[in-house]
Amino acid sequence: MLSDSARSEIQNLMAQYPRARSAILPALYVAQQEIGWLPDEAMDEIALLFGMEPAEVYAIAGFYNMFYKEPKGKFHLEICTNVPCMLRGSGNIADYLQERLGIGFGETTADGNFSLDHMECLGSCATGPVVFARRSQSAWGRYFENLTPGQVDVMLDELLLEDALPGEQTPARPYHHDHHPETNYLLARIDKPHSHKIETYLADGGYETARKALAMEPAEVIETVKKAGVRGRGGAGFPAGVKWGFIPKDIYPRYLVVNADESEPGTFKDRLILEFDPHQLLEGIICTSWAIQAHYAFVYVRGEYMFAQERMKTAIAEAKAKGFLGKGIFGSDFDLEVIIHSGAGAYICGEETALLSSLEGYRGHPRLKPPFPAVAGLYAKPTIVNNVETISHVRHVMEHGADWYRQWGTERSPGLQLISLSGQVKKPGVYEIPYGMTFRELIYDYAGGTVDDRPIKSIIPGGLSMPQILPDALDVGIDFESIVGAGSMLGSGGVIVICEGESIIPIARRAMSFYVEESCGKCTPCREGGSWMEKILKRIEAGEGTLEDLETMARVTKYIDQQSFCPFGPASVWGLQSTLRLFGDEYKDFILETNPNGHKPDIPVRPIYRADSGELHENLLDDATLAPLVP
Ligand code: FES
Repeated sequence: MLSDSARSEIQNLMAQYPRARSAILPALYVAQQEIGWLPDEAMDEIALLFGMEPAEVYAIAGFYNMFYKEPKGKFHLEICTNVPCMLRGSGNIADYLQERLGIGFGETTADGNFSLDHMECLGSCATGPVVFARRSQSAWGRYFENLTPGQVDVMLDELLLEDALPGEQTPARPYHHDHHPETNYLLARIDKPHSHKIETYLADGGYETARKALAMEPAEVIETVKKAGVRGRGGAGFPAGVKWGFIPKDIYPRYLVVNADESEPGTFKDRLILEFDPHQLLEGIICTSWAIQAHYAFVYVRGEYMFAQERMKTAIAEAKAKGFLGKGIFGSDFDLEVIIHSGAGAYICGEETALLSSLEGYRGHPRLKPPFPAVAGLYAKPTIVNNVETISHVRHVMEHGADWYRQWGTERSPGLQLISLSGQVKKPGVYEIPYGMTFRELIYDYAGGTVDDRPIKSIIPGGLSMPQILPDALDVGIDFESIVGAGSMLGSGGVIVICEGESIIPIARRAMSFYVEESCGKCTPCREGGSWMEKILKRIEAGEGTLEDLETMARVTKYIDQQSFCPFGPASVWGLQSTLRLFGDEYKDFILETNPNGHKPDIPVRPIYRADSGELHENLLDDATLAPLVP
């Protein structure tokens, strides 16, 4: 079924990785691009090439949303309807698209030109509503951002004009503050013409820092980053230099994996670096790889960031041509290969161990820790996983030194951070701020205030997963410790502003639908619990909720929070828990206004078999059943 050229492309991909199985996702992409979707026969051939059982390949393909098990339209359109885009009116655009095409989600137009689906966050939250369009039987995909109904018409016309396809897309750049150049380092170059080209980067002194780092002892580089106190920007905030120091002595090979699977709704900062300043990241990768003595660095980029992947691949080719990557970089005896690895639409792969499973060619299932990746990561070898922004900061720390970096921020959260600001503000975008700046300064000074000057109802301070906080936290500093003090977390630095006038219930329901869609299904509390929370929220939304639902959600979310296998479970319910805590009266009023029987208990009683006691319990949700499970 696959052509000879597709087969040989797959074999080349297999040879590119230290272990051939890592090429399974790229191979599935090759087959899909040739056929338009993934019939069993194509996966059977891939299984043969990899020496795997066909069922194993089906299972892998089935895990990832970007592999199609049935034919799609000539153009497959996916519109983001997640919370930040919802706050920017994506619901209207989704309705308009369905009306204009005469199809619903999951359907294809009669002429076969378009198929349509809704999508989770596409990393375009400040420039939503956004549609990601993929052309069947090609590697072509493009974002259409800031959509209005009129622009939807233009988009559909443009797509049907074949001439419009081969050109380079020009993605919308979100606002970013340029009136504080003293704190613009990561974003300093992104507005320059051809900011992504190596000539532009070299003209700004690019790659001199990598040369300098290679002249240092690796331990010295680690010490500098440790002294600067660079903290991970992916979510956990763990100090990068300390993590690097965990690599066991004398175990080789070691690997660097850059996490560019930016999928946390409300987060789109890494995309800006990947698309507009890829050499900055590559220079950080060289410094880090030298520090940990890794000869392979993988950049795991989310599948929808096709343009970012192309920009990174071009940048790697440019750097290789100059001798900055490949064999004996900068004339030294240090070899470094950088490989761009595309994800395929699985939010869980942003979790570092799930990402490693995916990179090894398996389903993106998380692993138990310990062992931590620094000890046994990719292919069970010492591996450092750091976020795009973290590695980009390393490049600047190595240029200017630890004391320079520490001039900003607080003692425990030193330096600058990229904040993705979305929701109902006048100038949503990416802002490079010193840690400790308050939410008030960010929202009112940098972003011009809220849309129509509406009062703020709540703020999500670190990506959709983080608990909401009230506007009385406007004067809290944006740093790891201060936000914890306010009852939430900085997470991935995605600040989402929600204004008065928005109902909290559809927001909570849409967020929960996202987690249900993205749960990897490995553990029961997350898989089943999340699904039940979504059902209850939908029932409330439909005017069929009861007050008892609120108690049930409070109890079950506690169980999901504390009993899930990986951090996804807790993160899936923190937001819901915070809305129940902060907006309990709004839930109650809505239930009683919309359901005349809302005050009555309405929990279906079903016998549940409990394996631990061997008994039948009448109701999974009663206290007696849950008490032994909830610490
Ligand atoms: Fe729509 Fe992020 S792109 S929520």
